[in-house]
Amino acid sequence: MELIASAAFGLEGLVKRDLVRLGVQGIRPLPQGGVSFRGGLDAALAANLWLRCADRVLLVMGRFPACSFEELFQGVRRIPWEDILSPDAAAPIRAQCARSKLMSPSDCQSIAKKALAERMKKVYGYERMPETGPVHQVDVMLHGDAATVALNTSGAALNRRGYRTWTGEAPLRETLAAAMLLACPWRIKQPLHDPCCGTGTLLIEAAFLALDRAPGLARPFDMEAWPKAPKAAMEEVRRQARLRFEAGLQRPLQISGSDIDPDALELAERHVRKAGLAGRIALVRRDVRDLVLPRGEGAIVTNPPYGERLEKKAARAVAAQLGLLQRRSPGWSLSALTADRGFEPAYGRRADRRRRLYNGRLECELLQFMPGEKAL
Ligand SMILES: C[S@@+](CC[C@H](N)C(=O)[O-])C[C@H]1O[C@@H](n2cnc3c(N)ncnc32)[C@H](O)[C@@H]1O
Repeated sequence: MELIASAAFGLEGLVKRDLVRLGVQGIRPLPQGGVSFRGGLDAALAANLWLRCADRVLLVMGRFPACSFEELFQGVRRIPWEDILSPDAAAPIRAQCARSKLMSPSDCQSIAKKALAERMKKVYGYERMPETGPVHQVDVMLHGDAATVALNTSGAALNRRGYRTWTGEAPLRETLAAAMLLACPWRIKQPLHDPCCGTGTLLIEAAFLALDRAPGLARPFDMEAWPKAPKAAMEEVRRQARLRFEAGLQRPLQISGSDIDPDALELAERHVRKAGLAGRIALVRRDVRDLVLPRGEGAIVTNPPYGERLEKKAARAVAAQLGLLQRRSPGWSLSALTADRGFEPAYGRRADRRRRLYNGRLECELLQFMPGEKAL
């Protein structure tokens, strides 16, 4: 079967890398975004559990030309929904249109719903779909003249790992935090410190990586409630992920964080506990200016305050303090995600590497400063 890992713009390369590690077949980036691969529902569950930067895993049910509502209707009705949907399945439909002849998502939604319901009524012989059973979210994606119809195997987006139940002021999306860690020079055996750790997202994602913990281990996925999904094969995928984490927990972990705000740190403590990492991540209240890191090699990875208008001055002062922190910590690299074009002058050095990333709609750069002094 064809599966798609959808991802935010710019993260497809990292999703592809994770898919290669999972050993799935037929990996291919899609022109409209996301990465396609092949596998059964057990592979879909493994992708849901292990993909760190993807948004959702979709199971492609059909692809066909759709220049008219009639073509859309016939295409959706031809799909053998009964292979996956139980008779009582609830099948809400979400349509998206991009550069397509059919431009109204709400019209496409109702046409697709009618076609799916007709198919189900014919197969199961009822008057009306009861829709009292497990949710099978259907995505209808129109791109140009082509329709892709898929089932969302994940349910809630994959950044919902299950550990963040309280949000601080400017939380970083978990998938973006993981992307920062995969793209920066940190190696999992090195110490890592986030000096503006806020609610702890980067620290927890780093610990998951270092301890070989599947990011989705603590949450359910819609597909696990589908009566026609292969229960035994899926339980085995989860069991393997649990075993890997149990073994990973034996590894030493040198991940720590600090922040000036006691309320954010309290949230970070709660998130760490909820993630099953109590006592494994050191947290301390500290202003960046007073921070001293251990000698030797390590990686500072952080999402410092961006600062809008009046706060810009304060944010630049933190950038300057981060520059000083790296200068007094020889051997440590520093990677910062920022939307502030004035970050580097304030930091006192040009980045050695940069990568464009999006925090929601906000265009940011992951600036990487390698160890050692360099001029601006
Ligand atoms: C953009 S938020 C980080 C959010 C974090 N990544 C998360 O997921 O919650 C920036 C953080 O920098 C902290 N901060 C601001 N100035 C600081 C300073 N001088 N020293 C340490 N932390 C500071 C703020 O308290 C805030 O938690």
